[in-house]
Amino acid sequence: MASELFMTIYFALFFSHYLISISALCVFFSFYPTMSPYGYCRSVCSLLLLVVSLSDAKPVELDHPAIFNFGDSNSDTGNIIAAGIGDPLDPPYGHSFFNAPAGRFSDGRLIIDFLADGLGKQFLNAYVKSVGAPKFQQGCNFAAAGSTVLNATSFSFCPFSFRIQVAQFARFKAQVVQILATNKTVSDYLPAESYFREALYTFDIGQNDLGGAFYSKTYPQVIQFIPTILGEFRNGIESLYNQGARNFWIHNTGPLGCLPQNIQKFGMSSSSLDPMGCLRAQNKAAKKYNNQLHALSTEFQNLHPDANLTYIDVFSIKSDLIANHSRYGFEEPIKACCGYGGGGHLNYDTRIVCGQTKILNGSKVTAKGCSNFTTYVNWDGIHYTEAANKHVASQILTGAYSHPPPVSMQLSTPTSDTPSLSTKCLFLLIISILSARVF
Ligand SMILES: *[C@@H]1O[C@H](CO)[C@@H](O)[C@H](O)[C@H]1NC(C)=O
Ligand SMILES: *[C@@H]1O[C@H](CO)[C@@H](O)[C@H](O)[C@H]1NC(C)=O
Ligand SMILES: *[C@@H]1O[C@H](CO)[C@@H](O)[C@H](O)[C@H]1NC(C)=O
Ligand SMILES: *[C@@H]1O[C@H](CO)[C@@H](O)[C@H](O)[C@H]1NC(C)=O
Ligand SMILES: *[C@@H]1O[C@H](CO)[C@@H](O)[C@H](O)[C@H]1NC(C)=O
Ligand SMILES: *[C@@H]1O[C@H](CO)[C@@H](O)[C@H](O)[C@H]1NC(C)=O
Repeated sequence: MASELFMTIYFALFFSHYLISISALCVFFSFYPTMSPYGYCRSVCSLLLLVVSLSDAKPVELDHPAIFNFGDSNSDTGNIIAAGIGDPLDPPYGHSFFNAPAGRFSDGRLIIDFLADGLGKQFLNAYVKSVGAPKFQQGCNFAAAGSTVLNATSFSFCPFSFRIQVAQFARFKAQVVQILATNKTVSDYLPAESYFREALYTFDIGQNDLGGAFYSKTYPQVIQFIPTILGEFRNGIESLYNQGARNFWIHNTGPLGCLPQNIQKFGMSSSSLDPMGCLRAQNKAAKKYNNQLHALSTEFQNLHPDANLTYIDVFSIKSDLIANHSRYGFEEPIKACCGYGGGGHLNYDTRIVCGQTKILNGSKVTAKGCSNFTTYVNWDGIHYTEAANKHVASQILTGAYSHPPPVSMQLSTPTSDTPSLSTKCLFLLIISILSARVF
């Protein structure tokens, strides 16, 4: 007789709080017209459940009107391709979500896409992408594949280094303010002026500086080089702060020693690899880089108490995904899904990009996709699959990898006078049994 209520509690135990609220509301409204004593009690209980479930704070709950993103290919949603730099991407890039290459270096969505979605925003349009009525009201993406924190050189693939991305943002902001002042009809396509202060500024850059350094430097030289990279990063975020940015979300760099591109280049001797098959030196350097990035973040926050800066430990999420891949439904933690050669275990050859067909040593070869994209962590030897990106974004959104933890999480930390979720569920279970007995 109280089966609906049990169902509601079941939902409460196993699903996110949106579903709890929806299911509670459904139960409530299904009994509303026929207010029998049972129905009355059940609806009261449902409402109670609704209130209780809503009071259970969701870990990351951010209310920003727009997102401005800066970074490299890990978060490029179309800049480098729109700029006409490098080869266009071929299928199966984009296959899992966009059905065609979508300017993203993955089979589908990137971490930034899942984050935008999770924060209730549209996918970020790339700054350089001008064709097709681009909408920038909820933000803009300045990230470009191959970009570095340090200034590009004549050898760089990508001219849009961090300093340039910050300069592009300055142009963007100045133009938006100017256009809005003269023509209100375009306001649906542009962020309001106040959004620039309220927006979330996200960063995922540095991997190319650090990974690239290994091509010309010894390990100690790479480590010595880290403060130079971070000094330039600090200049960039200071500049954004001076332009009114107040909410910063900084992703640290991932375990670059686990990328087939680096393993193929530097993993000749097995002593350079850890038990996972990742390069020890690269991952150690990434950790040192991240420690200093974290220190910089703390310093910046202390210097600017009117700003909110969150350092996000993406390294730990990705390392955990690779090391404990089977727990998360993956079968291949390192091998690229889409590639060719490089010894069966990597499926990567630097001369041929995923989707391309080329003549190598006189024979025509194609870098094809694997049979099941969702079982691979790595997409093309350098970037992650959509399935992996989805996992990383969902872990970020738990708030568990944020430093400092999100405010809503701090509030929901169990203390002696706030009951835990299981206590609340037990309480509701007892109410439901009692209500079933009484009526
Ligand atoms: C990068 O370039 C800018 C101007 O082009 C220059 O002012 C700055 O010093 C350069 N940064 C580094 C670290 O060389
Ligand atoms: C405002 O922008 C719209 C759309 O681009 C355009 O049609 C219109 O002519 C503009 N008005 C002025 C006064 O510039
Ligand atoms: C920083 O976060 C706190 C807590 O969420 C919030 O009250 C404050 O308005 C935020 N500051 C800015 C500048 O957005
Ligand atoms: C793998 O999972 C175990 C158990 O949860 C955890 O202790 C370990 O840190 C994880 N490995 C990595 C590299 O995160
Ligand atoms: C092509 O030749 C190079 C060097 O001779 C060799 O290392 C590589 O494995 C060959 N690749 C193919 C596709 O046969
Ligand atoms: C791909 O792998 C996932 C996870 O192992 C599995 O659930 C799914 O059924 C597979 N799909 C195909 C088409 O084999």
